This record gives sequence, structure tokens and C-alpha cells, in this order.
Amino acid sequence: MTKSSKKSSKINKKKRTTKTTSKGSKSKKAVKEENEEQFLDEVLLDIDEDIEHDRELRDADNLQVKYIDDQKIKIKDSDARKVVESVLDVETRTTLFNLRKRKVIDYMTGVISTGKEANVYHAYSPKGDELAVKIYRTSTNIFKGLQIYILGDPRFNRIKRDQRSFVYAWAKKEFKNLSRAMNAKVTVPKPIACLKDVVVMEFIGEKGLPHRIMKEQELIDPEAAYKEVLVNMRKLYTKANLVHADLSEYNIIYTPKVYFIDISQAVLVDHPYAEIFLYRDIKNITRYFYSQGVKVKDPDKLFEKLVGEPPSIQVKTF
Ligand SMILES: Nc1ncnc2c1ncn2[C@@H]1O[C@H](COP(=O)(O)OP(=O)(O)OP(=O)(O)O)[C@@H](O)[C@H]1O
Ligand SMILES: [Mg+2]
Repeated sequence: MTKSSKKSSKINKKKRTTKTTSKGSKSKKAVKEENEEQFLDEVLLDIDEDIEHDRELRDADNLQVKYIDDQKIKIKDSDARKVVESVLDVETRTTLFNLRKRKVIDYMTGVISTGKEANVYHAYSPKGDELAVKIYRTSTNIFKGLQIYILGDPRFNRIKRDQRSFVYAWAKKEFKNLSRAMNAKVTVPKPIACLKDVVVMEFIGEKGLPHRIMKEQELIDPEAAYKEVLVNMRKLYTKANLVHADLSEYNIIYTPKVYFIDISQAVLVDHPYAEIFLYRDIKNITRYFYSQGVKVKDPDKLFEKLVGEPPSIQVKTF
């Protein structure tokens, strides 16, 4: 059977099994499911010969994994020092106090993670709901390199150029991006509040124990996770009009439902670097799921499926 006939026979099969309403027309849910399935069929069908036996690509993948791991260790090391030194400054404590006054947070229980840009804490709301409280660092110069994501984004034209204003804008960007993503039905932690350098969101975990990111666990069903990630990427791009721009196994929580997190650097699809970031996200996801034994789709084809045209040389060589 040829690729295209395989494709059409699969899609036809889907059509035959689509749910219909009592009046005979398709329900909204059925149409949505069909669209998603069709998208997955189209991008997942002709994968066999693409990547599986490509040794060069495998070597490059290994190098890239090593590079990411090295980076991660560096960050962790310097963070270990920072944690010891870091206490929340007076302004941040005032912000937390104000969030308490506004009945968003009741109390914080402890730190979940110390990252390069922010610390994430576990907290409870007055109603007893569990929260993740992300507090951005206002003290480090880390944001210098991150201006590329925010400059050129019309939503942030009027931010002041001083360090603190920039960090507040960055926190707001995460909150706004979470809201956009959630409205587009991308699985993300529900955004709850944003004040200055603090973003409060739904806690993905139970009884103070966070669910772990993909990188830190074995996937129960890698194929299903891959599909879920692709569907989320598509919703993010086509419905929320956003590109995550730092998507990898480090920024996806796996429960085994997949949650996209750390979305502060996400950019609108018309951002000058959007396609470059999208291509990089696609490559990261492809590399990771390939390493998990999934029959992944060729990154260029996936890019074309999302954007409508193949990646340009500039996008591929950036
Ligand atoms: N909503 C959440 N629920 C549970 N855990 C979370 C949540 N958000 C973040 N975390 C945990 O905190 C970690 C850091 O979060 P995030 O990636 O958003 O911050 P970051 O400062 O960019 O960190 P890094 O520099 O390590 O990427 C995540 O890897 C995850 O383990
Ligand atoms: Mg992260």
C-alpha cells in the first residue's frame, strides 16, 4: 500500500466511525476529535523511513542531549549556591503579603524548584487548593539575554528598560501566555494571579508532591505522550497563536497527562523569530521522543504542517 493510500484509508476509517448527533450531523466534539485525529494521521503516517536509521542524526541527538545535560548541571550548581544566599527581598515579601490580603495565597509550604530565572514554591489558597507560586529573580542579570523574546512583541512595547520593570513584564508575559494557552485548550497549569514578580498558578501534583517533568521519569506510553505533545503544539500555534520557544522534556510535566510549563519566553506567531523558535521546539521534541523509541515524524514535515510552508534555510540554519 502506498503512503497516500494508507493515509486516505485511515482517514476514511475515521470518517466512518465519527459520532453523529440525533439529527445525523456531527457533534462539535466529534468534529474536533476528527480534526485532531486527522492531523495526527497526516503527520504520523509516513514516518518509517524518515529518521529511524539515520546514524548522523542519532550522533547529533546524543551530542545535543549531552549539551543540554551539561547546561542543566551548570545551572543546578550555581543555583545551589544561590539558594543558600537567596532570601526573598522586602519588595517580594510585600507582594506576597498583598496576594495574601487579596485571598489568593494563604501560606507557602516550601520550595519546589530553584531555576535560573525563578524559584517555584508550593502554597495553599485560603480554600485549601494547592498552588504553585513562581517568583522571578529581580536581582540577577539573567534577563539580558532574554530580551530577544520580549522586544518585537507588541504586547510589551511600553515596558520600561530597568531591571525590575523588565522582570515584572516577564512575569506578566508568563501569566498572559498561560491564559492564552489555556483558552486555546492547551494543557497548562491554570493561571490564577500575577502581581509584580510573582505568578500564581495551579499546582500539578498532590499533597505537596509535584508531578515530575518528562526528563525525570520513564514514560508509561511514549507514543501517546508524543501525540499529546503534538496536539498541544498545534493548539498553541494555531489557536493561541504562540510558539513556546523553550519546549523540551524539561518543560513538560508528565502525569501521564502532559502539561506545558515555563511559558514565559513564548512568543506570538508573528514575532520575528517565531519560526526559528518553532523549528527549534520541533527538533527538541523530535530528538526526545526519538530517544524514547517513538517513531517520530520528520521535523521539516511537522513544521510545514503547522506553518503551511517548509522551513526556510534561515530557519534551519539559525
Ligand atoms: N504548576 C506547577 N506545578 C508543579 N510543579 C511545577 C509547576 N510549575 C513549575 N513546577 C516545577 O518547577 C520547576 C521549574 O519551573 P519552570 O520551568 O517554570 O521555572 P524555571 O525557573 O524556568 O526553571 P528552569 O530554569 O529549571 O527551567 C519545573 O521543572 C517543575 O518541576
Ligand atoms: Mg523550566
